[in-house]
Amino acid sequence: MKIISLLNMKGGVGKTTCAVNVATHLARDHGKRVLLVDFDPQTNASLSVMTEDAWDAWADGHGTMADVLEIRGRKERGEPRKLVDCILHDVIPEVPGLDLIPSHLALTFLDLDLAARPGRERIFARKIAKVRDEYDVILCDCPPSLMTATQNALYASDGYLIPMQPDYLSTIGLRLLQDRLGYLKHELEFKISCLGVVFTRVRGWLRYHAETMARLRSDKEFKRLHFFDTVIPENIKLKLAEAPMEAKPIDLHDSGASGAEAFRALTKEVVARLG
Ligand SMILES: Nc1ncnc2c1ncn2[C@@H]1O[C@H](COP(=O)(O)OP(=O)(O)OP(=O)(O)O)[C@@H](O)[C@H]1O
Ligand SMILES: [Mg+2]
Repeated sequence: MKIISLLNMKGGVGKTTCAVNVATHLARDHGKRVLLVDFDPQTNASLSVMTEDAWDAWADGHGTMADVLEIRGRKERGEPRKLVDCILHDVIPEVPGLDLIPSHLALTFLDLDLAARPGRERIFARKIAKVRDEYDVILCDCPPSLMTATQNALYASDGYLIPMQPDYLSTIGLRLLQDRLGYLKHELEFKISCLGVVFTRVRGWLRYHAETMARLRSDKEFKRLHFFDTVIPENIKLKLAEAPMEAKPIDLHDSGASGAEAFRALTKEVVARLG
């Protein structure tokens, strides 16, 4: 398993925080060559590892996922930019080996822009094939939907990782997500398996969270989902929410924070599962 999509139709569950921090630890602690791909028009993953000024300069001079998915380059410049030209190498100086393809707000209307385009969900798969061998792991940070951007990520991916909060509506969401993924796999004809589900924003003092996690872990319906042992705690001191302001992962912002420790442990589990 090399290309992994982080996904959940629910918003704000910690997909981007997981993508950025797991990508960092894969490169830093395990020496992996990692590519982080930001599929979300909110550009949260991009702006968690680079400043807005750096993003502006990069988007102008090089390119973003808007070029990769051909909604900007073609219209504005005649020829689309190559995916390889959109890769920002060693995006965080302290984390060599972590590359990024930044996102762009223009992806907001991707579904409309590509509505009439045949094979619109396969564009990324076709292009990433050319650089796939240069990486050990490629992580795709998806928006909170299963529309065209996420379909492009899924179509190219070998596996997916679901960050979820351990509450009632998220449990329903998990079922819906499984259902829709099954539908997409069938209709678009791709193979993909679940690398695991990680519980995020866990409030250790809430019995309700502990009970939900225990129930899901033992539920036969979800046995193929392979819940990770590590859980990501809700960082009360907001260290996890603060770190992106410095364009840094939590480990570089405050390596002693409980969130940093959790992502180190989660990444170890991810590496073990990747084999
Ligand atoms: N464990 C945590 N403790 C505290 N704050 C967190 C934690 N995880 C994420 N956050 C914060 O919560 C917000 C949402 O997290 P994040 O952006 O990772 O979620 P997301 O699932 O990617 O959201 P979206 O669906 O909008 O893409 C962010 O401001 C983030 O910094
Ligand atoms: Mg996100």
